[in-house]
Amino acid sequence: MLEVKITRMTKDDVDEVVHIEELVHPNHHWSKDSFYNEIANNLAYYYCAKNTENKIVAYIGMWHILEEAHITTLAVHPDYRRMQLAQALMIAAIEGCYKEMIKFITLEVRESNIAAISLYEKFLFDSIGMRKKYYQDNGENAIIMFTQNIWYDKFKNNFSIIKEGISKIKVNYA
Ligand SMILES: CC(C)(COP(=O)(O)OP(=O)(O)OC[C@H]1O[C@@H](n2cnc3c(N)ncnc32)[C@H](O)[C@@H]1OP(=O)(O)O)[C@@H](O)C(=O)NCCC(=O)NCCS
Repeated sequence: MLEVKITRMTKDDVDEVVHIEELVHPNHHWSKDSFYNEIANNLAYYYCAKNTENKIVAYIGMWHILEEAHITTLAVHPDYRRMQLAQALMIAAIEGCYKEMIKFITLEVRESNIAAISLYEKFLFDSIGMRKKYYQDNGENAIIMFTQNIWYDKFKNNFSIIKEGISKIKVNYA
């Protein structure tokens, strides 16, 4: 069974993260400098999942702005998909939100990205609007998704069920 540890991203992780970025988004990936700038920002909460050989297999990024968090990036190495890694990273990021008294989480996602939309719906994100032609590389629309208040029972109960359902991998949360 795959075992990962989830830790805050540091500058030493950026080379590997950008390697995955290039695999996942060949035409519109973030640069190393983008990640260096992001993780240097006090508002940014970025996490990596590393296997037992310390190789990064997935990462997520989020900004905490007052009572709202904004997911800025999420990617799983193509060889490690459908193993619940995205869910594990979402769990780590959302636990970080609870620690920082965040109330709502939002994000934008390409309207064609069925896998990601399905992931976020699993965490009870709702589609609340659209940004037309938001993505510069292909003019695609972005769906805006939002949680309800994450402190409400409905969100928390669902979150607990997701956490209990992580069975395909062993996850050590830092
Ligand atoms: C979207 C992505 C992060 C999912 O990562 P993953 O580790 O494979 O996802 P998980 O195994 O944790 O699956 C969680 C849920 O996501 C959804 N999902 C994941 N892959 C899916 C697919 N190929 N088709 C449909 N739903 C999918 C499902 O709801 C799944 O829950 P289920 O297994 O109970 O059906 C991954 O496909 C990826 O990196 N895609 C490219 C980058 C990207 O699109 N990032 C999101 C930007 S907003």
